[in-house]
Amino acid sequence: MPSARLTIDPHFTIGRVQRRLFGGFVEHLGRHVYDGIHEPGHESADAGGFRSDVVELVKELGVSTIRYPGGNFVSGFRWEDSVGPREQRPRRLDLAWHSTETNEIGLHEFSDWLEQVGSDLMLTVNLGTRGTLEAIDLLEYTNIAGGTMLSDQRIANGRTDAFGVKMWCLGNEMDGPWQLGHRSADDYAKLASRTAKAMRQLDPSLELVVCGSSSAHMPTFGEWERVVLSHTYDDVDYISCHAYYEEKDGDLGSFLASAVDMDGFIDTVVATADHVKAVRGSDKTVNISFDEWNVWYLSRWENVEKIEGLDNWPVAPRLLEDVYSVADAVVFGNLLISLIRHADRVTSASLAQLVNVIAPIMTEPGGPAWRQTTFFPFSITSRLAQGDALELKLDAPTYETAQYGVVPLVDAVATHEAESGRSAVFLVNRSQDEAVTLTVDVASLGDVSVLESHTLADDDVYAKNTLEDRERVAPRANDSVRIEGGELTITLPPVSWTALSLG
Ligand code: AHR
Repeated sequence: MPSARLTIDPHFTIGRVQRRLFGGFVEHLGRHVYDGIHEPGHESADAGGFRSDVVELVKELGVSTIRYPGGNFVSGFRWEDSVGPREQRPRRLDLAWHSTETNEIGLHEFSDWLEQVGSDLMLTVNLGTRGTLEAIDLLEYTNIAGGTMLSDQRIANGRTDAFGVKMWCLGNEMDGPWQLGHRSADDYAKLASRTAKAMRQLDPSLELVVCGSSSAHMPTFGEWERVVLSHTYDDVDYISCHAYYEEKDGDLGSFLASAVDMDGFIDTVVATADHVKAVRGSDKTVNISFDEWNVWYLSRWENVEKIEGLDNWPVAPRLLEDVYSVADAVVFGNLLISLIRHADRVTSASLAQLVNVIAPIMTEPGGPAWRQTTFFPFSITSRLAQGDALELKLDAPTYETAQYGVVPLVDAVATHEAESGRSAVFLVNRSQDEAVTLTVDVASLGDVSVLESHTLADDDVYAKNTLEDRERVAPRANDSVRIEGGELTITLPPVSWTALSLG
């Protein structure tokens, strides 16, 4: 059995793990909002039509800030359509997903739902087909207490207090040719800079995110970040990263190493942001909002029949309803490890998405709601990763991948909260056929014991939770874990994700 060795020392910190690292993303897309979080006829629906079984699962997931309302959807969205009396709200074409947007759920209803799930709102403005004026109008509507046309309109629409939205994205994936209003880096950056300045003139306390690349594999990646930040460095607080991973051509080995790619992506964007900082002689640091990340079988979606036709714009069609396996959840847990490892510079992140659409939570109209395999690494990591991310010393065997060359067989990150004295360790074994014995030097944590252990693994790495078998996959306590003489030992099964809580 291969073995690996890890040393944890709470003195070597990377940075505070921000709660915002465990954010989510709700887009008006497919059955996410309609027939997902909102299903008025459902037996669990509350007076506003929101499913309370979904609310409970979102609470259990532990999501902090939620990005809304898109995604690609936002680039064709008129925010005014989604407020005011429901019966007067227009039905609109959603060009991004070839659907009909009924606007039955808008800013007010979504904000009520956020209060139920205990999450904060992060808004994206449309810089695809709209501009600065519409962005500051929306900001006036959300953040001004009253006494102006738009803030008074909000009050008349039933919301006395301002929404007080702090975090704003300046458009979505503006580097992507698929984006409505797609532009060059230069054109986008000038618009983003003007818009950011105007928004700050209204509310200087905002935290603003400028669009980075929609993937590290875009032909403009790197140069896009450099040009965009050269124009907007003084105006923004974050640059966004988006990344989706999938197993391609049966290459499970490369897929299991997806976090290596995410690590490189983050390091490159940090280097580019710091290059612009140096060139400008600035003492301000721009951090990363990793506001879309997940496993997504995008190539399968590209091969299915597209919704098309001038007369065919369905409401809430089934779109991007990926069903996740154990292997997917292991990669997903490893992506969280990568985000935490960069806690000094990735200070906000949004899992894309939340319900039905590439989501940890699935629902069936008139039926149950259930946890996908990816639900578990998120909920457990969000709950246990407290305090500071720690720099680790990891000695592990390696293996060769087609996509990323030689990579470690084991990956790990740890957190430590000085106040409670608790630590958490998150581990992945990428081996497809062998368990790994891991020895962890925990002597510098003092006299600790294992408070919780969770391992997600299965003899069938493609096992999934489905409507018919909703609890097929769940993490189990790892009975192999022992602590003796300042050393913890644990066996990590092949293709597995593990979390330990020590205290
Ligand atoms: O999350 C699905 C889509 O992926 C989003 O709408 C878009 O921003 C990205 O390309």
